[in-house]
Amino acid sequence: MTPDTGTALLVGGSSQLGFAVLTGLLGPPPRRVVLAGRPSEELWRHADQLRDLGYQVSTTQYDASLPLGGIDPLLEHLTAEHRLGLVVIAVGTMTAASFADSLAVNGLAVAVLVQALVLRMSTAGSGQLVLLSSAAAARPRRSVMAYSLGKQLADSTALLLAPAAAAAGVRVLVVRPAFVTTRMTEGLDRPALWTTPAKVASRVARAIPGHRVVVWVPRTTALAVRVLRRLPSVLVPPSLR
Ligand SMILES: NC(=O)c1ccc[n+]([C@@H]2O[C@H](COP(=O)([O-])OP(=O)(O)OC[C@H]3O[C@@H](n4cnc5c(N)ncnc54)[C@H](OP(=O)(O)O)[C@@H]3O)[C@@H](O)[C@H]2O)c1
Repeated sequence: MTPDTGTALLVGGSSQLGFAVLTGLLGPPPRRVVLAGRPSEELWRHADQLRDLGYQVSTTQYDASLPLGGIDPLLEHLTAEHRLGLVVIAVGTMTAASFADSLAVNGLAVAVLVQALVLRMSTAGSGQLVLLSSAAAARPRRSVMAYSLGKQLADSTALLLAPAAAAAGVRVLVVRPAFVTTRMTEGLDRPALWTTPAKVASRVARAIPGHRVVVWVPRTTALAVRVLRRLPSVLVPPSLR
């Protein structure tokens, strides 16, 4: 499924989940693809994989720990020749050095990014933005408090911008996975609601033509969150508090 044929941008270019979602939406080459992120083996490997498939790939720096989310090098890289057709934002961390860093990276930086990219696409009058949020944005957990609060800020920013963006021809999709088997969750016990990057990617690809604004993966996560919100905390398993 190709939402638009302009440049495709993945912010969090090393993310396994982001890469699965991006490749599920790219459509056939040739197409310009920009991978943004901190330099890493994973990011270069993703760039090489896309080049081998025939895409025109460039990479650019993006460090969400920098003041105001380090968005300037990314915006400078997106020159006028890059009309953004697809943006996937996959930035997130559960291992930030401090509470403040976690809020800054998961929350403020991503909110700033979403706002800037939606504005840019709205000015051009087309595009699809996919934000990899989390079920934790809808039901913050004390055990991952700063991560949850950051995700809430990013998720709410995207949802608040979505109606005006749609009126300007831009679609926003907020994806709320539960537990996905990626580098982020390596070594952790799988809870009941777990899924894979391929399943998230497939659900996202199916949600886009329906102009959905929020999608949960697995689907039952939405129901589980509604139930957990209503339960007295003593009845909630400690791992879900
Ligand atoms: N895995 C899950 O269970 C799960 C569940 C719900 C939501 N999500 C969300 O899905 C997205 C992708 O996660 P993933 O599972 O694919 O994990 P991942 O591989 O750890 O991806 C996280 C991405 O965020 C980037 N990032 C972290 N800190 C950054 C910073 N300061 N500046 C720039 N980039 C930074 C990482 O880049 P580096 O390589 O430079 O660190 C990486 O590209 C995240 O937003 C995550 O919160 C994941």
